[in-house]
Amino acid sequence: MARAVQGPLWFQLYVLKDFDFNRKLVRQAEEFGYSALVVTVDLQTGGKREKDLRNGISIPLRPSLRHVLEGIAHPAWSFRLLRGGFPQFENVRGYLGDTSAGLTIAARVGRNLHAGFDWDDFRTIRDWWKGLLIVKGVLNPGDAARLIGEGADGIWVSNHGGRQLDGAVSSIDAVGAVHDAVGGQASVMIDSGIRTGMDVIKAKARGATASAIGRAALLGAVEGQAGVERVLDLLLEEIATGLKLCGVPGFQLVGPDLISPVVAG
Ligand SMILES: Cc1cc2nc3c(=O)[nH]c(=O)nc-3n(C[C@H](O)[C@H](O)[C@H](O)COP(=O)(O)O)c2cc1C
Repeated sequence: MARAVQGPLWFQLYVLKDFDFNRKLVRQAEEFGYSALVVTVDLQTGGKREKDLRNGISIPLRPSLRHVLEGIAHPAWSFRLLRGGFPQFENVRGYLGDTSAGLTIAARVGRNLHAGFDWDDFRTIRDWWKGLLIVKGVLNPGDAARLIGEGADGIWVSNHGGRQLDGAVSSIDAVGAVHDAVGGQASVMIDSGIRTGMDVIKAKARGATASAIGRAALLGAVEGQAGVERVLDLLLEEIATGLKLCGVPGFQLVGPDLISPVVAG
């Protein structure tokens, strides 16, 4: 990635049980000049993803007739997949002595996630990484305040796109309290459910400095790079239109007043 991409890069770490391997990944990110480390804390184990189960999406993938038919129905996507090959998990190549980087190693990583991640572990990683450190997957305002107290630079409010804990609070409902808890001392990002420019504006009104997208970008990626660029253009257009319709001349001016209940007067 670092060789292929111009511009700032953030490295996202899933914390594994093996802290030597975690250390290796963090050191690599440093060597390749990554500007921020994102430590994801909401994947202590894989959630039960019922839609994946229903759609036969598993790691490793067990191809079915339905997948083949879907592939035939989407020839451009299939062609790109055949040309580019299956995604490889290069960062974990070599983990547990496995020299592959395909879905088999991804499954092994999934079985070795560190479910017991605690404050000592956080401090260890904070000591390793001197640059900006953002913690992703925070919904609890108390955790957010303590993380900033323990040296995190930013909080990424996320419920992993609703893919982990069924019943978790939505990010948009959590972000206001998280913002208040960190008292404006740190940047608060949000993701999970951001689909339109108005979602980005509403998140900002509730205290999110920045919004991130997961599946919106992936849905565009069905059309390759151009599709992802189209998604970003659409979001930017919608933000611009939304700001005009709200009567706000700039994104940074969006504040909580925009979503206060209308009081008859
Ligand atoms: C296919 C897929 C793979 C993901 N992989 C990761 C990952 O490796 N690390 C991570 O922190 N989050 C991962 N996520 C979660 C996203 O980073 C993000 O939190 C989520 O997709 C946001 O919700 P949204 O899809 O509604 O925008 C993944 C999400 C999807 C859909």
